[in-house]
Amino acid sequence: MDTHQTVRTFTDFFRERGHRTVTGTSLLPPPTDPVLFTTSGMHPLTPYLQGRPHPQGRRLLNVQRCLRTTDLDEVGDATHLTVFEMLGSWSLGDYGHPQSLRWGYELLRDGFGIPRERLYATVFGGDDQVGPDNESLRTWQELGVPVELTGDDNWWSNGPVGICGPDSEIFVWTGDVPPRRTPTTDPRWVEVWNHVQLRYHRHEDGTLEPLRQPGVDTGMGLERLVTVLQGRREVYETDLFEPWMRTIPSLWDLDERSTRLVCDHLRSSLVVIGDGVRPSNTGRGYVLRRLIR
Ligand code: SER
Repeated sequence: MDTHQTVRTFTDFFRERGHRTVTGTSLLPPPTDPVLFTTSGMHPLTPYLQGRPHPQGRRLLNVQRCLRTTDLDEVGDATHLTVFEMLGSWSLGDYGHPQSLRWGYELLRDGFGIPRERLYATVFGGDDQVGPDNESLRTWQELGVPVELTGDDNWWSNGPVGICGPDSEIFVWTGDVPPRRTPTTDPRWVEVWNHVQLRYHRHEDGTLEPLRQPGVDTGMGLERLVTVLQGRREVYETDLFEPWMRTIPSLWDLDERSTRLVCDHLRSSLVVIGDGVRPSNTGRGYVLRRLIR
């Protein structure tokens, strides 16, 4: 399945289940947003996830380009990229998290042909403010997917304050079957999809206020999914990167890791420039300058 077919399979699946497509935005959030770049599919939808009615309804999907500088140190490995695309689905106070997990499983199994024995899920194990996510644990058990409660690791937020909640991450095994280890002990488990229950607003003092309209926010890394579906170990081995990996070694004589870094940083820089940023010594322009450098 090439990248185009992968996106099509995802969007068709959620459209058939009543989701409307929201056009992805640029990497530049509005001027009132303190964050420099769009970091996830839910980011541009924040006001609607906080309760504002969305003109397209309560079930949405999109394909959103994202940039994460927090992952920069890991770029150059098999699966982390500075700029990537996220396949997202949302319930704005409509269906609940168990439904989202069930559809997630159905799409991975029937839409993408990933057998159950290659899947593994992690679930929020609770902390001093919120109890363990037993509902998601039960859902995965009913689906027959191996699942693990992970302390307070499975918690998602887009910053120190704002909407947040427990999440459930789905991993795909890329080694020989049967897998013998868990995602925490073997990097051949690749995290592809995160299903978040947006249930709280975190205030400056750290307290959590329940949202009047809890929602579901999911995000799947497109390049990682494509890697898994094409039976590859690295994002750089997929059809998406084929032109880059053909061109860069013909321009510069680099070792393997440097080739990947140049590929990621050039590709990311082009997307950032395409969204209107120019190199400078502050803010977004400085991120771009550093990528080029
Ligand atoms: N917001 C979550 C993430 O970025 C799921 O979409 O992982």
